[in-house]
Amino acid sequence: MAFLGLFSLLVLQSLALGTTFTDETIAELSVNMYNHLRATGEDENILFSPLSITLAMGMLELGAQGSTLKEIRHSMGYDSLTNGEEFSFLKDLSHMVTAEESQYVMKIANSLFVQNGFHISEEFLQMIKKYFNAEVNHVDFSQNVAVANYINKWVENNTNSLLKDLVSPRDFDAVTHLALINAVYFKGSWKSQFRPENTRTFSFTKDDESEVQIPMMYQQGEFYYGEFSDGSNEAGGIYQVLEIPYEGDAVSMMLVLSRQEVPLATLEPLVKAQLIEEWANSVKKQKVEVYLPRFTVEQEIDLKEVLKALGVTEVFIKNANLTALSGRK
Ligand SMILES: *[C@@H]1O[C@H](CO)[C@@H](O)[C@H](O)[C@H]1NC(C)=O
Ligand SMILES: *[C@@H]1O[C@H](CO)[C@@H](O)[C@H](O)[C@H]1NC(C)=O
Repeated sequence: MAFLGLFSLLVLQSLALGTTFTDETIAELSVNMYNHLRATGEDENILFSPLSITLAMGMLELGAQGSTLKEIRHSMGYDSLTNGEEFSFLKDLSHMVTAEESQYVMKIANSLFVQNGFHISEEFLQMIKKYFNAEVNHVDFSQNVAVANYINKWVENNTNSLLKDLVSPRDFDAVTHLALINAVYFKGSWKSQFRPENTRTFSFTKDDESEVQIPMMYQQGEFYYGEFSDGSNEAGGIYQVLEIPYEGDAVSMMLVLSRQEVPLATLEPLVKAQLIEEWANSVKKQKVEVYLPRFTVEQEIDLKEVLKALGVTEVFIKNANLTALSGRK
C-alpha cells in the first residue's frame, strides 16, 4: 500500500450565497496561490487559508487608494465588480461560514493593532468595523516583546488556544505603525468517525520515492467518490476524488489522490477553480474503503512573494498609497 501524494481541500457548501462570482473568485485565487506556493517552496506540505488571506487583503484594501488600491483589487479578482461590492460579499461570507453550533465551530476574528499616537481615519475605522467586525487595539510597537505577547494572547483567545505564538517580537520594531491580524478557527468532527482501533501503521511512499511509516486511519462506509481522467489515456491517468463530510454536512473535506505511479506534481497543474466545482458536482455516493494518513501540519508562510507574484507590489514599498487608512493625503 503506497500513496504518492495527497491533495486536500476544505470545501464549504456555499450554495446559500446569492452570487456566483464569490465561490469562483476565491477558488480561482486559492488555486493561483497554491501554484505560486508550490513553485517557491521545497517539497513540503502546503497549508494555507485562502479565506484568511482574502479577509486580510480586504481590510488592507479599505485603507488603500489610487494605484495601490487598483493593484489589490486586480490581484484579488475584483475587477468586474463595481467599487466596494467586494466588501459586502466579504461580510456575507464571514457571516455565512461562522458557526458555533453543536456540529462544528468556525470562527473568524479580525483585529487592528495600531501604534499609540498614529492617526487612523475615522472613516476607515467605521468601515473596518462594519465589514470585518474588527476590533481596534492601541499598542506601543517599540515594546516589541510585550506587543508580540499581547497579539499572541489575542490570537489564542480567538482560536480556542489552538494557535499559539503566531507573531514573534522580530516582526515589530519602533517604525511599525499598524498590524492587521486575522484568525480563522475551524473545528469539526467527521460525520462518520474513524475508529482508533482501526488505525494501523503503513508505509507511505513520498513523491521523492522515500518511504515513511505512518499511522493510517481506516473505515468503510458510504462516501461521495469519483474517478477522473487527467486526459492522458495512459495507465495511471486516472485519479480519485473523495469527499468526506463533517458533522452537519455544511462543510466537507475533499481529497484528491493520484494513482500510485503518478507523482502529485503531474496532477497539480490540472487543478483549476472550475475543476474543483466539477469534482464536487460529479462525485457519487457509494461504498468506499477509506485509508487516510493521520497527520498534523503546521506551517509558517511568508506571503510577500506570493502576493507580489499575484500583482500586489506597491504595498511593499515606501510610497504605497494607504491614505484612506491614515486619512492624510
Ligand atoms: C493616493 O490616491 C489618491 C486617489 O487616487 C490620490 O488623490 C492621492 O494623491 C494619492 N496619494 C499618494 C500619496 O499617492
Ligand atoms: C484574552 O482573554 C482573557 C480572558 O477572557 C482576557 O482577560 C484578556 O484581556 C484577553 N486578551 C486579549 C489580548 O485579548
